[in-house]
Amino acid sequence: MARLILRGFDIRKGHLDPATQTQVIADLRPILKSAPLFRPVTPSGKEMSVRMTSAGDLGWVTDKAGYRYQEQHPKGGVWPGIPNSILGIWHDLVSTEHEPDCCLVNYYGEGAKMGLHQDKDEADFSWPVLSISLGDDALFRIGNTTRGGKTESIWLSSGDVVVMGGPARLAYHGVDRIRFGSSRLLPKGGRINLTLRVAR
Ligand code: SIN
Ligand code: MN
Repeated sequence: MARLILRGFDIRKGHLDPATQTQVIADLRPILKSAPLFRPVTPSGKEMSVRMTSAGDLGWVTDKAGYRYQEQHPKGGVWPGIPNSILGIWHDLVSTEHEPDCCLVNYYGEGAKMGLHQDKDEADFSWPVLSISLGDDALFRIGNTTRGGKTESIWLSSGDVVVMGGPARLAYHGVDRIRFGSSRLLPKGGRINLTLRVAR
């Protein structure tokens, strides 16, 4: 359970024990059933390689109309609630007084990645984004608060949790690649990244 601070990213290696990881995955199953993963398209029309869905009052979506939070799944219907096993991680590390209103679920299959970007569609940047890694290892890249400049990378493994707040809240970050099949948490392999956000 090492703690590492890299450019303000508060990285908690092994924060979730295996039993908690298994519980979170079990709690995600009904969410993926009622709000299936979809393949998002960037405003410029490019399909992303990750697949996505959300839990909470709001879900993050992107299509030709732009990046935004909305109350409905792209195929219709409201998003399922955020399970207590996931909210508990927020309570532990961020706040017991203020709840996140979005849990973005990103699924990385073989070959999926995510380019460097900022999380800036939220109304109040004083709340951190809490990131939870489950399943296969991912090479996480950290940049600066403006585009360009030197970057640093770190491998994130199943059970690692990262608090992106303060100086890291608006820093560029992304996932270069995953090590497909490196974890046995997900029976079919791949990686799930959960990000808890205060969007409103
Ligand atoms: C994200 O920035 O939305 C995902 C980061 C990650 O997958 O670790
Ligand atoms: Mn992000």
